[in-house]
Amino acid sequence: MQIIIVAAHAQNRVIGRNNELVWHLPRDFKHFKEITVGHPIIMGRKTFESLGKPLPNRTSIIITRDAHYQQEGCIVVHSLKEAIAEAKKLDDQIYIIGGAEIYKQALPYTQKMYLTEVKAFPEGDAYFPEFSKTDWQETARHSYYKDEKNEYDFDFVTWERKDNIAHI
Ligand SMILES: NC(=O)c1ccc[n+]([C@@H]2O[C@H](COP(=O)([O-])OP(=O)(O)OC[C@H]3O[C@@H](n4cnc5c(N)ncnc54)[C@H](OP(=O)(O)O)[C@@H]3O)[C@@H](O)[C@H]2O)c1
Repeated sequence: MQIIIVAAHAQNRVIGRNNELVWHLPRDFKHFKEITVGHPIIMGRKTFESLGKPLPNRTSIIITRDAHYQQEGCIVVHSLKEAIAEAKKLDDQIYIIGGAEIYKQALPYTQKMYLTEVKAFPEGDAYFPEFSKTDWQETARHSYYKDEKNEYDFDFVTWERKDNIAHI
């Protein structure tokens, strides 16, 4: 089983503000879709509400502390551990798609990260967690430049954990 984080963060680590993204990058949406389609995606309740509906062709697993929370077409769980247990029943590739709280909790158990580095310093209130370059190795980087549809330059970066993965 492999736990994989997918996120887009700015140069100041911002990933969102007021429960929304802070950029319009359709090329990054396409990349996100290519990576996650066909796999279970784990997210915090706030990220689900920011998306507004389950993403097609992926099983959405939502983490909340609210025992009564329900969303049609989604699996609702009450801890990261439970989310991973549910995802494992479906696939051996499990994607963590945010937000800040869930990235932070999942990072110690994550083997691989697909991070979009957005070349901007926006204001925000949600951040991607710091991670140690001692534990992680950059294995791929592809640069893209802003155009009429994508408002910032960005890089698609792949990170792989060197060793010492924690087990959940
Ligand atoms: N740029 C990106 O790649 C990206 C990706 C995803 C999200 N985002 C942004 O990130 C922001 C949202 O992040 P966030 O940190 O505010 O929220 P979040 O991580 O999406 O969700 C937080 C919620 O998850 C639940 N939760 C967290 N830990 C839990 C645990 N251990 N057990 C049970 N439930 C748990 C709680 O839900 P309850 O309150 O219901 O109990 C908590 O309020 C938004 O601005 C969004 O646009 C950006």
